[in-house]
Amino acid sequence: MTTESPTAMRRLLPADMVERGACPFDPPAGLRELRGKSAVQPLTLANGAPVWLVTGLEEARAVLGDTRFSSDRVRHPDATRPGPAAPQVESRTDGMFVFMDPPEHTRLRRLLTGQFTVRRMRALESRIREIAVEHLEAMRAAGTEADLVPAYALPIPSLVICEMLGVDYADRDQFQTNTAIALNADTPDDERARAGLELYGFIQKLVDAKKSEPGDDMLSGLIHDADPPLTDAQLVDMALVLLGAGHETTANMLALGTFALLENPGQLAALRDDPDLLDNAVEELLRFLSIIQMGVSRVATEDLVIAGVDIPAGATVIIATPEANRDPRHWDDPDQLDVRRRRVSHLAFGHGVHQCLGQQLARVELKVGLGELLTRLPGLRLAVPADQVPLRNEMLIFGVHSLPVTWAPDMSE
Ligand code: HEM
Repeated sequence: MTTESPTAMRRLLPADMVERGACPFDPPAGLRELRGKSAVQPLTLANGAPVWLVTGLEEARAVLGDTRFSSDRVRHPDATRPGPAAPQVESRTDGMFVFMDPPEHTRLRRLLTGQFTVRRMRALESRIREIAVEHLEAMRAAGTEADLVPAYALPIPSLVICEMLGVDYADRDQFQTNTAIALNADTPDDERARAGLELYGFIQKLVDAKKSEPGDDMLSGLIHDADPPLTDAQLVDMALVLLGAGHETTANMLALGTFALLENPGQLAALRDDPDLLDNAVEELLRFLSIIQMGVSRVATEDLVIAGVDIPAGATVIIATPEANRDPRHWDDPDQLDVRRRRVSHLAFGHGVHQCLGQQLARVELKVGLGELLTRLPGLRLAVPADQVPLRNEMLIFGVHSLPVTWAPDMSE
């Protein structure tokens, strides 16, 4: 959920649990083979560490809903998992709450929940639409071909986070450039580290500025509403959690969701014929694509039993979200993308106390982002054969590195 290592997935997991087969949207073959078998399976990682893999929806919910499974990467630094390493926190008062357990997690999460107000979400929706339209118009003005990732999918969440944190317009280019470099696992480590440091310094300055001149943004709210007040380290960390959790996720869902619709023309046509299906289509794409591949994991803090399987204290449990979201006990024909599917709650945003805090915002970004894209570029199609679209197999967050698309010049006039 935060900056990811490009090799973490490949290094630890068997190749057949990482590489996709002929259909890029289906879970890797190694995961699909587990279908119909026990929903909780032991697995030995490449470094010899034993972990437990959860492939069933109910079993995944049981783990994520049970706080005896810990998210704390500082208390359990030795646990082996494909997710990001333990953050370099200096004390338990810092703000990386995604890697904390209750009660520390609860206090920090609640402060942020209080900032995700209906009023603020409404204001964000109209800004998201403006941002989407601006970028689509710029794409059309520049010609009839573009890479959808840098031209559209990445700038939307990046600018939305600028709005949330109250970044000045004048600083947005610098903020966006550094965010793109710091979160892009394709860039060399030293360049990413430099951009990460600049971003840290930038957010620290932003905190100082909001302290003396508060605005109508989340960061100002966090600074002025928290009692007792948050430390600077907590404020910077919490801003970075929002950035890390809300940027690559939404960008990859937008680009991969577009790719999946273009590859399923019947579904795309159904959506174009009936835009009221958009909400449903967003939920179905979240289920079908399950972009957080094997990135959600926990550590058992005592001996536990899940689905009749003993999980010893200290064991790491990895949630195989792509497979859990195709659990045939919950969905008919789970491997079909069906934008008309009756809504059944999925696991794409997790479950339990860490369930995605930004899920309503992500839904709005996806609905507006996909809706405007399909309306304003109606002749949209891939500009390369589908098998040449580079996939992010090896990343914690699945998606595409780029998505070359083309459209007809006069279609949207
Ligand atoms: C947590 C998925 C977008 C903020 C999570 C978790 C998942 C997830 C699976 C749970 C992690 C765990 O249990 O360990 C997604 C997906 C997104 C998305 C698929 C987009 C399609 C966003 C956005 C934001 C956001 C837009 C905010 C700007 C967060 C935060 C957490 C989180 C703050 C940590 C919550 C906690 O630890 O209490 N997300 N997310 N996410 N997400 Fe999202």
